[in-house]
Amino acid sequence: MAKLTVRDLNVRGKRVFVRVDYNVPLEEKDGQMVITDDTRIKETLPTLKYLIGQGGRLILAAHLGRPKGQRDPSMSLRPIAARLADLLGRPVAFADDCIGEKVEKTAGALKDGDVLLLENVRYYNEEEKNDPAFAEKLAKVAEVYVNDAFGAAHRAHASTEGVARVVAKRGGKCAAGLLMERELKFLGEELEKPARPFVVILGGAKVSDKIKVIDRLLDKADAILIGGAMAYTFRLAQGFKTGKSLVEPDKTDVAKAAIAKATTKNVKFLLPVDDIIGTPVKTDKLDKKGKPVIEYKNSRTNRDMNCPDDAAGLDIGLATIQAYSNEIAKAKTILWNGPMGLFENKEFSIGTNAVALAVADATEKSGAKSIIGGGDSVKALNKAKLGDKVTFMSTGGGASLEFLEGAVLPGVAALSDK
Ligand code: 3PG
Ligand code: MG
Repeated sequence: MAKLTVRDLNVRGKRVFVRVDYNVPLEEKDGQMVITDDTRIKETLPTLKYLIGQGGRLILAAHLGRPKGQRDPSMSLRPIAARLADLLGRPVAFADDCIGEKVEKTAGALKDGDVLLLENVRYYNEEEKNDPAFAEKLAKVAEVYVNDAFGAAHRAHASTEGVARVVAKRGGKCAAGLLMERELKFLGEELEKPARPFVVILGGAKVSDKIKVIDRLLDKADAILIGGAMAYTFRLAQGFKTGKSLVEPDKTDVAKAAIAKATTKNVKFLLPVDDIIGTPVKTDKLDKKGKPVIEYKNSRTNRDMNCPDDAAGLDIGLATIQAYSNEIAKAKTILWNGPMGLFENKEFSIGTNAVALAVADATEKSGAKSIIGGGDSVKALNKAKLGDKVTFMSTGGGASLEFLEGAVLPGVAALSDK
């Protein structure tokens, strides 16, 4: 890697400001916020243990949710400190702020190997604005900067970018953590010259989220398999009826361009040949955002490329599962991002689960390298208990996508060159 990593540092007796991504899902239970998935915390343990072993004094900074400059107690990092202490098997001190005299005093009293977690950096508006004065305040406790927050590296915020600049200007070192290093290796280097066939599976709701990724991967992949609601924008582009399926009518030109490029580049571009459809019905129930919950009635297989007027496409069908599984079985490198249908609903999770199984099988049986680009595909794999059967699962959502698009991530760019 062209950037310094924690292995290049000498941190003994130094205050190391470590940016981590502890933006984990929480649920309220009996008035307490409870962590429902601690993957992102666990994934930082190698970096933290390494730095502790090297005698660093760790000051961890993170964001949680989007409190927009308010001290919203439901987005406090306090419960994370407790979980981290459990996982690390050592005390983790918690500061109820991320800047200020009290924080400086606590940080100054740390001994080699001690760990302090700061309160949510987004309690300050200046964080997301990457305000230079705020970055200076954060940097007061930092002699060395480490970024292990791959999931937030696409944000040019004060704690992900600004602090690094301040530390570097003072002559301090800024390095990638071990998780950051792994993410960049698997989503970057490993896909530069992939073992072939290189099969890419893309799903999710919108084509617009994936345009750049599709375009870039069309230069590298041998086959691209499309699923999820975004498949319907492709169908629309091909002149089929899409009924009540989720489509982006203004993106059909992009869909057409992708299909044309696949032909020119000789990339197999597979779209669903059958699907599971259902009739959407609004219920009286409201979701978390206050919108009526939609239920799907009369779900059935559709083998016609046209979707009936009253129905929406919700999952890939059995023939598609078969075709996609065959492609995946031949692969030597697999990249998967995005579910094949409305997988949160068990009825429409069959396609996504089948793809998860096919990816796990190819990894185990033919030694394919399988890389999962974060977000919902990771959720689906974990739900199917197949998380440990793939080569790599990213902790990033938006960051993985932007990195796969070929973007330079601000949180990485700010680190010291080797
Ligand atoms: C994420 O969960 O995607 C990252 O932590 C970034 O969070 P954000 O999208 O609120 O910036
Ligand atoms: Mg996000």
